[in-house]
Amino acid sequence: MCGIVGYTGKSAAAPVVVEGLRRLEYRGYDSAGVAVHTGRGMEVVRALGKLGKLSEALAERPLAGNVGIGHTRWATHGRPSEENAHPHVVGKVAVVHNGIIENHRELAHELIAAGARFSSDTDTEVIAHLVQQALEDGARTLHEAVRRALGRVVGAYAIAVLGTDEPDVIVAARHGSPLVIGFGEGEMLCGSDISALLSHTRDMVFLEDGDVAELRPGGATITTVSGEPVSRATKRIEWSATMAERGGYKHFMLKEIHEQPDAIASTLRGRVDLEASDVHASEIGVTPEVARAIRRVYIVACGTSYHAGLVAKYWLESLAKLPTVIELASEVANRDAMFFEDDLVVAVSQSGETFDTLGAVKAAKRAGAKVLAVANVLESAIPRLADGTLYTRCGPEIGVASTKCFTAQLASLLLLAVYLGRRRGTLGEAIAGEVLKALVAVPGHMHELLGDADYVRSIATTLANAKDVLFLGRGHNYPIALEGALKLKEISYAHAEGYAAGEMKHGPIALIDAELPVVVIAPKDATYDKMVGNVAEVRARDGRVLALATKGDEAMHDLATHIIWLPEAPSWVLPLLTVVPLQLLAYYVAARKGHDVDQPRNLAKTVTVE
Ligand code: F6R
Repeated sequence: MCGIVGYTGKSAAAPVVVEGLRRLEYRGYDSAGVAVHTGRGMEVVRALGKLGKLSEALAERPLAGNVGIGHTRWATHGRPSEENAHPHVVGKVAVVHNGIIENHRELAHELIAAGARFSSDTDTEVIAHLVQQALEDGARTLHEAVRRALGRVVGAYAIAVLGTDEPDVIVAARHGSPLVIGFGEGEMLCGSDISALLSHTRDMVFLEDGDVAELRPGGATITTVSGEPVSRATKRIEWSATMAERGGYKHFMLKEIHEQPDAIASTLRGRVDLEASDVHASEIGVTPEVARAIRRVYIVACGTSYHAGLVAKYWLESLAKLPTVIELASEVANRDAMFFEDDLVVAVSQSGETFDTLGAVKAAKRAGAKVLAVANVLESAIPRLADGTLYTRCGPEIGVASTKCFTAQLASLLLLAVYLGRRRGTLGEAIAGEVLKALVAVPGHMHELLGDADYVRSIATTLANAKDVLFLGRGHNYPIALEGALKLKEISYAHAEGYAAGEMKHGPIALIDAELPVVVIAPKDATYDKMVGNVAEVRARDGRVLALATKGDEAMHDLATHIIWLPEAPSWVLPLLTVVPLQLLAYYVAARKGHDVDQPRNLAKTVTVE
C-alpha cells in the first residue's frame, strides 16, 4: 500500500506533493512526509497521523523549493510513528517507497557491519543507505546510484529518490508496485496512481517492472536497472481531476454510492447491443472458438470483489452453462490450486493491484490458463498480466469501502456471462435480450432506490447501537448478505455476519433474540417463499427483522419490523439493486457514530501486501 508522489518543475513543490498525497490517502494514512530540495540541500517534514497533521507541520515549518517527494504510509515494517514515516534520509539521499523489501534484514546487517546507522524500523531505509553507499563508491549520478542500489534489493517497490547534488532531479523506479510518471508543461511528476497527477497533466507513462526513470522539469529518460535505455509510450488519460473530488457530498463513499447509476451506464456504454441481443467485448480477446473451448471458469478475488465473483457464479452457470469455481485469492497460495489450460480464470479487482489476486493470476498463467481481468484502474498490474481486461469504467473510487465498483463489477460480470453464453450457443436470443434489457434499466431503478436515502438514514438509527447484526439471503442474494455485512463491519466497526439463510437452522439461529437485528434480503424471486419461512422463524424467537422486499409485498410488510422497498425488476439484476440500500445503511450507521467513513481504521484501499 502507501502512496508516493514526486514533483520537479517551476511551482513550489511541497503544496503540489501534499495535494497529490491527498488524492492517494486512500492507500494508507497512518503517517506522511515530504522532502524538498531547497536549492542548498534537502529538508524533510514528517508527521504521525493523517495528512492533515503533515499540513499542520508544514504550516509551522514551510519547505521552499521546486523539487520534492512525498509519502502517505500504511505501516508494514515498523509501527506508525514519525521516525518510521517516509521520506527516509541518509546522507545526501531521500527516499519514499511503496512495497516490501524482502531481503532488508540481510542488507541491514551488512550495512550496519560497514558502519551504517539506522534511524527507523522500516525496510525502506536500506534503500536510502544503499543509494548513499553507491554515491560514496563513485556513482556519477543519482540515477546510476539508484540503479546500483536496486541491483541489490529483492522484493516489491515503487520509489522516488531525491539527491542533494542534483537539485532538479527525481529518480523514480518500479518493480511490482505501481508507478506512473506525468508530463506537464515544464514540469514532471510521478505518483502511485493517475489521480495524484491529474490536476497537472493527462499525459502519462506507466512504468514497467524494472524501469528506472530520471525526471527533470523538461522530461524523462528511462532505463532498465542495468542502464539500457527503454522507450515507453505516453498515454492520454480520459479521467478528469474533478472526478476525484467530493462534489458537495460529506464523504467520498456517499458520493460514490450516488454515482452508481452513472457508473453502470458507463460500464454498459457501447457494450450492449439490444438489437442483436448480444454483448460487444472484443477487448477481452475471447473469440467464439476460445469461448467454446473453455471447460471451466475459475474466479479469484478478495473482499468485496470476491462477493461480486460469488454472484457471477450464478450467472455463468445458468447463462453460459460453465461450471464456475470461485476462490478467495488469498487461499490460492495456501494449497496446490489446480488451474488448467482450458480454464478461463477471471480475476476481479477494483484496484488491479491486490497482492493476493495478482499472485493467483501468476499461478494461473504458469499453468497456461487464459486470464481475464475485471478491473477499474487502468494499466494496473493485474490487467497488464492478463490476456484481456473488461474495465468497469466507473472512474476513480476513493472511499476505502467499495461501492460503485462493486455494482460495476456485477454489471461487467453479467455482460461476460451473456457474452460467453451467446458464443457458446447456450443462451438464446430471447433470454439474452431479457437480461440485457434488465441491465439497461438498472440505472433507473438505482435512482429510485437512492431517492429513498433519507428513509434508509432514519432506519439506520435502529442499528446504530447494535453490537452484532446478522444478514441473511439465499441464492444470488446470499453474496449480497455477505457484502452488506462486510460494508457494515468495515466502516461502523459493529460485528456483522452474512449467512446463507438455508444455514440458519445449522447454527446461527441460536443467536436470535430481541437484541440481534437481522437484515433479510427477500425480493420477489425464486428464493422468496423460503425467505418468508426464515423471517417467520426469526420473529417467532422475538428477533427484529429489517427486510428488503419488493414494493407491494404486504405479507413481508406484516411480518418484518422494518422494511425497505425494492423496485420490481427481473431477477437477473436484483443483486445490483438489493446492495444499494445496504451500502446506504452501512454508511449512515457509521456516519451517525461519527466514524471516518472514507478512511476506516486499520484499512487501506489497495492491499499490495500479503
Ligand atoms: C471492501 C473492499 C475490499 C476490497 C478488497 C479487494 O469494501 O473494498 O474488501 O474489495 O481489498 O480489492 P480489489 O478489488 O482492489 O482487488
